[in-house]
Amino acid sequence: MQINSVFGFSVCVLVVWLPSSAVSEDQFNYDESLVPRYELPDPLTTNDGLSVNSAEVWRSVRRQEILRLFEQHVFGRLPRINVRLRVRTHERREIMDHSAIREQQTVYLTDDDTGPSIDVLIYTPTKSAGPIPAFLGLNFSGNHTVDADPAVRLPKSWVRRNPRMKTISNHASELSRGLQAGRWDVGQIVSRGYGLVTAYYGDIDPDFDDGFQNGIHQLDPENGTARADDAGGSISAWAWGLSRILDTLETHSQIDGQRVAVFGHSRLGKTSLWAGATDERFRLVISNNSGCGGAALSRRRYGETVKRINTAFPHWFCRKHWEYNDKETSLPIDHHQLLALMAPRPVYVASAQDDRWADPYGEMLSLYHAGPVYALFGKSGLRSSGQVEIGKPVLTDVGYHERAGKHDVTPYDWTQYLNFADRHLK
Ligand code: GCU
Repeated sequence: MQINSVFGFSVCVLVVWLPSSAVSEDQFNYDESLVPRYELPDPLTTNDGLSVNSAEVWRSVRRQEILRLFEQHVFGRLPRINVRLRVRTHERREIMDHSAIREQQTVYLTDDDTGPSIDVLIYTPTKSAGPIPAFLGLNFSGNHTVDADPAVRLPKSWVRRNPRMKTISNHASELSRGLQAGRWDVGQIVSRGYGLVTAYYGDIDPDFDDGFQNGIHQLDPENGTARADDAGGSISAWAWGLSRILDTLETHSQIDGQRVAVFGHSRLGKTSLWAGATDERFRLVISNNSGCGGAALSRRRYGETVKRINTAFPHWFCRKHWEYNDKETSLPIDHHQLLALMAPRPVYVASAQDDRWADPYGEMLSLYHAGPVYALFGKSGLRSSGQVEIGKPVLTDVGYHERAGKHDVTPYDWTQYLNFADRHLK
C-alpha cells in the first residue's frame, strides 16, 4: 500500500533536525506537508507473502502473526504470571440520590494480603433489569481522584509528585480528592444503563523506570533473569492488570462480563488498545487520544516520534522497540494493524483537535487502514481517508471523532462512547 503525503519529504532531511527528549514538544513536526512518504505494511499479506482472503485465515494465521510482531517489536509480551485472585469488598453503598451503587474492592494477586493488589472502584445503576454492560479503564492518579468522597480509599502505591495533583511526595494526597472526576462522567454512564469500573494504574506497575522490580513485576518468574528483547514493558503490565480485573468482573453480580468495553486515555489509551488486542474477551475497545504507540501511525512522524517516546519513557515498550528510533520504516508493523487486531469487535478512536502531539489525522488514518480487515468479516470501517469534520462523529462498525479542544477526556467524549456502545453492546 503506497501512501504519499501532499509533498513527499525525505526521511534523511528530517533526521537532521529531529530533537532529543530534552527538546520541547513544539520542535517536532506539525506540518502535514512535511510528513514523509511511507508505505504501510499490508494487514492482509502474511509474513510469507500470501494474501489473506477469508476471516478464517485471518483468525488462524495472520492475526497470530501480527499479534506476535507487536509482542516482539513494540510492547513486548504480557508478563507470564499465574495468579489466584481474591476479591474483598470494602464498601457497597448507594450514592447520587440512590441512583447508583458504588463498590470498592481490593483484588489481591497473592494469598497474602501484603502482596501486590489492585483497588477497584465500581459504579452501577441501582435499577437494572439483569446484568449490564460496563466500561473498564485505568486512571492516572488514584481512585480518590475520580470521586471526591472521603470514603474512597487512597492508593498505597507510588504516585507521581505533581503540583496539579497537589502531591509533594510519592504518596497520594488528601488534597487531590476528585481532581480528575471530570474525566469520568459517572452520572451520564450510569444513567444510560452502564457500569463503570476503574483502578489506579500504579497499583499494577508504578509509572517510572525502576528496572521492572515493583508492582506486579515482583511476581514475574522472569524477574532477576537477563531481560529478553521481547519482555513486556509497563504497557504490557497495565494491559495484564486490565485482564485480571476483567476476570473478576466475570463473576460480578450486576455486570455482564461478556459485555465489557475497555477504555483508556493517552498512555492508558495505548494500554486499552494492547489489552483489547491481547484479550479478545473485551467486547469493545476505546482509544482516547492515545497517539504515538497507540492509534497513531508511527511512520508519519507527526508530533511525537518513536525516538522521543522511547527516550522519555524507556519502560513503556519492549527493548527491541528502541531499535526503531528514527527508523520507523523498518518496523515490520504499523499501528493500523494494532487496530485491526480488534476486528470484528467494534473499536472507537477519538482525537482532539489541539492534541497535535498525538497526531489526530494519523489516528484517523490508522483506523481507516484497519478497514480491509473489518471488511473480511462483512463489517464496515471508515469510508473515507479524508479528514473528519470536528465534532461530527462517524459511527459504523468502528467509531471515530475529533473533538474541539485539548488532550483530555470530556463528557462529550463519553456521550460518543455511550452512543457507540448502545449500537454494539445493548
Ligand atoms: C506524554 C507522552 C504521550 C502520552 C502522554 C500521556 O505526552 O509523550 O505519548 O500519551 O504523555 O499519557 O499523558
